[in-house]
Amino acid sequence: MLQGKFVVLGVTGSIAAYKAAELVRLLKKAGAEVHVVMTSSAREFVTPLTFQVLSGNPVVTDMFEKPVRWEVEHVSLADRADLFLIAPATANIIAKMAAGIADDMLTSSVLATRAKVLVVPAMNVNMYLNPITQENLSYLKEKGFYVMEPDEGPLACGYSGKGRFPEPEKILKFIEKLVGVSRDLNNKKILITAGPTREPIDPVRFISNRSSGKMGYALAEAAVERGGEVILISGPTSLQPPPGLYKYIRINTALEMREKVLEYYGWCDVVIKAAAVSDFRPKNYVEHKIKKGDSASMFLELEKNPDILRELGERKQKQFLVGFAAETDEIEENAVEKLRKKNLDLIVVNDVTAEGAGFDVDTNIVKIYYKNGSAEEIPKMTKKELAHVILDRVVNLLKN
Ligand code: C5P
Repeated sequence: MLQGKFVVLGVTGSIAAYKAAELVRLLKKAGAEVHVVMTSSAREFVTPLTFQVLSGNPVVTDMFEKPVRWEVEHVSLADRADLFLIAPATANIIAKMAAGIADDMLTSSVLATRAKVLVVPAMNVNMYLNPITQENLSYLKEKGFYVMEPDEGPLACGYSGKGRFPEPEKILKFIEKLVGVSRDLNNKKILITAGPTREPIDPVRFISNRSSGKMGYALAEAAVERGGEVILISGPTSLQPPPGLYKYIRINTALEMREKVLEYYGWCDVVIKAAAVSDFRPKNYVEHKIKKGDSASMFLELEKNPDILRELGERKQKQFLVGFAAETDEIEENAVEKLRKKNLDLIVVNDVTAEGAGFDVDTNIVKIYYKNGSAEEIPKMTKKELAHVILDRVVNLLKN
């Protein structure tokens, strides 16, 4: 997620400084180039060598030491940064930044940067809640700094409350959102279907299903963020289309969806069929509202809708095909069978009976099955996060 990003990490004198070492490791793993600047009090807690080894770069500690590279170091780091992180940030550094003080390498660099600055405070609860610290933080936010709220819990000083340094994984997630995801779908043409279809019985009634469209819309939004040219073909939903779509097409029935999908099939590199297409439609549409009459039952004859995805699989040329399946039983067998029958590259399967998965919720728990026979369980996460995970997999497989 942070491939090629230049991150400057300022470490200050908090007991949580040792946790910043783990943060460096995670940043590197996510692809970032990391340069660490330490205040002199941070060096009382952790040695620069730790950060040097983990970041793979010399650690900047003092303005008046001989610079490792012969540049005006604080300005060069400040200029190159895509993100400037102060983690952990003490009350002292927060106050200094708010006052515009530049009396060491770190404060000078922060003052000189035009990059986004993220402050992650960690301190004693009373210091954190002190109105001066709170006002300083508000002032920094007003000036465009980003501040991550500390966690609540037991503190190193023996107190308990707000002031804990968040887990490095949590900070990384915050950073990834802040820096923005990579544009690895640049120039890729992606067709996404979302929502249910509606199969009319008469002018006022229809057959449909419980799909909200949230997963498909999250995928469309994520694909746009990553630079894709996205066509979203959607059944009836209450959702707003995400900004930046190449085309937004609303349909009602499976037949209408089929027509639109086929129209654009030749255009696309990737098709993601997140729509819950009705398998059947009423065989005879009745032009007037059907009266209930005296009979205790009624007969509604249904005929099968075309399986759009299967048709795409049969006509597949260069396209990468992603299917979705909502299952309630024999999940694995059904998934593998659909993957094969529809000639898919991968299928995202959710057990709609699981809590936090399926219809109309903001989270999902899925398993991804791949054409090569492998499978991957994805833990519960928001549909937007899952959208990015699915796109990560697509991007990786497109490279091969
Ligand atoms: O066979 P099943 O409906 O479970 O398969 C689900 C996948 O197939 C989804 O990706 C869905 O969008 C697609 N599908 C389709 N046309 C249908 C039924 C399902 O494209 N008539």
